[in-house]
Amino acid sequence: MDREIRIVEVGPRDGLQNEPTPIPIDLKTDFIERLVASGLVHIEATSFVSPKWVPQLSDSAELWPRLPDGGVYSALVPNAKGLERALELGVERIAVFTAASEEFTQKNINMSIGESITTFRQVVADFRVAVPRGWVRGYVSAAFECPFSGRVDPEKTLEVCNLLASEVGVDELSIGDTIGVATPSEVGNLAGLLVNDYAGEIGHVAWHFHDTRGTAIANVAAALEWDVFRIFDSSAGGLGGCPYAPGAGGNLATEDLVYFLEREGYATGVDLETLARASLPVLELLGRQPAAKAQVAALALASR
Ligand code: HMG
Ligand code: MG
Repeated sequence: MDREIRIVEVGPRDGLQNEPTPIPIDLKTDFIERLVASGLVHIEATSFVSPKWVPQLSDSAELWPRLPDGGVYSALVPNAKGLERALELGVERIAVFTAASEEFTQKNINMSIGESITTFRQVVADFRVAVPRGWVRGYVSAAFECPFSGRVDPEKTLEVCNLLASEVGVDELSIGDTIGVATPSEVGNLAGLLVNDYAGEIGHVAWHFHDTRGTAIANVAAALEWDVFRIFDSSAGGLGGCPYAPGAGGNLATEDLVYFLEREGYATGVDLETLARASLPVLELLGRQPAAKAQVAALALASR
């Protein structure tokens, strides 16, 4: 069995975007340096979204040139203005983001799902012309449940996934359990629909779980059972949540993901102890103790 796996670290973007306390750019740079030092490679560093909507990431233009060597970085781009800003900085990997729920899409990007697909089709077409070797990820948030309108029909999620694959032409898809409600059978159900009917490359589908209710690792295990899914998103220290998704506490902690994958025989290339320390300065600024389970355990082990 192929035991290769790819972790997409979203801490600097998804982890920090919701924090009201301004985090100095030096601290963000230090956080990313620590993540790279731990062995993480794919890192979603920031967003080129409206600074009015997400003030915490309004420093993305200053941060981007400071990103340390050793990482492969991407950033969220919601529209033409975001693309223009990203291209000025030479960004080669972008992520567009819609949702499986109309209400969530409206609250998050002020567009309907249809408008978001039309917008992203143009953004991605322009990006491909500007950066022929560029790479595009497409997010489908609220893939299982919407914080405003409740449970989402998996067929609807599949439909939006297919719009991103065939209309927008994304290279990779990330399926977000934005509010951390899903359980393994729901993941298995959606995985089955995707395996049968996804219009893009099934091996390029990532899962983005939140651990709000403690189901994230069980959901990773459920996705792995299909033997085709090899990309998982997570956030160091379990930081984060979406500012436009009430109750979206805690992304799956990268420490929990790394521990689980390594123990299951997958090679992540990440040093757990170095990773466990990576978010400590950010947590200290925010006045929080480390809370991710495998992070706490790794720190305790290191201090013995
Ligand atoms: P809007 O207000 O409809 O935009 O927002 P607009 O076009 O009317 O522009 C309003 C103002 O923003 C204008 O400035 C624009 O120039 C400016 P003004 O004239 O008022 O001074 N503006 C921009 N400035 C900088 N960069 C830009 C940009 N665009 C407009 N790109 C918009 C529409 C899409 C911009 C807004 O809704 C937005 O930025 N939303 C982003 C929200 C966000 O980042 N949410 C979190 C990410 S999604 C998530 O976390 C889920 C995920 O992690 C997966 C999961 O967990 O499930 C991906
Ligand atoms: Mg998230």
